[in-house]
Amino acid sequence: MVIDGPAGSGKSSTAKAVAAQLQIQFLDSGALYRVATLVYLNCQKDYQKFFEQLEESEISFYFKKKKFHVFLDGRDVSDEIRSMEVSENVSEVASNADVRIFVNELMREVVKHNDYIADGRDLGTAVFPDADLKFYMVADLETRAKRRLDEVRSSGKDVTLEEVKQNIAARDDKDSNRSSDPLKKADDAILVDTSEMTFEEQVAFISSKIKETISLQDKT
Ligand code: DC
Repeated sequence: MVIDGPAGSGKSSTAKAVAAQLQIQFLDSGALYRVATLVYLNCQKDYQKFFEQLEESEISFYFKKKKFHVFLDGRDVSDEIRSMEVSENVSEVASNADVRIFVNELMREVVKHNDYIADGRDLGTAVFPDADLKFYMVADLETRAKRRLDEVRSSGKDVTLEEVKQNIAARDDKDSNRSSDPLKKADDAILVDTSEMTFEEQVAFISSKIKETISLQDKT
């Protein structure tokens, strides 16, 4: 099962709650691009060093108690990858075709072993085109910026709504217009506009669609 959509549309928090409710695994593909960005920043933005370092890095993750934990070479970087510095550089790193191949291979390998709900930008179109169920979540920019602001502030950073709004708008633009697997709704994805939905409504809607699909599969 996959949920794609722009930043702040609610896909990650919704997917986490659905995964916890249905007792399936959750995979945050954006977090993996953020870890790659951390490696890039640690290499002082030197692309050659970055690729060497990325190949050598050990990236691991797990989902527990509604939180997606990410480790880089054994260090928990779950909070660090949400910093504004990472957010400002992640679209550039994610637009690199070799980085996308690296992250996609990591994801395809891990989903072989369990049932997953994964969230991202291109999962329904490029990474898992045969997913059982696809959702595409959207919300207006103001709503998305307010949601992201709460997330960034809870990680201890002091930023303004305007800064978050600009970052999201710039990322929307880069993510939708890059040449490698841009942010795009898959033709067979269910469109979910969360601008006027409460969090509980989003979770209930997605969960019910998944349950419907599973019960249909059980009957065939
Ligand atoms: O979901 P997020 O905001 O944490 O994602 C961070 C960035 O990673 C986002 O700006 C675009 C990129 N990304 C991507 O290109 N493809 C994905 N499947 C997931 C995220």
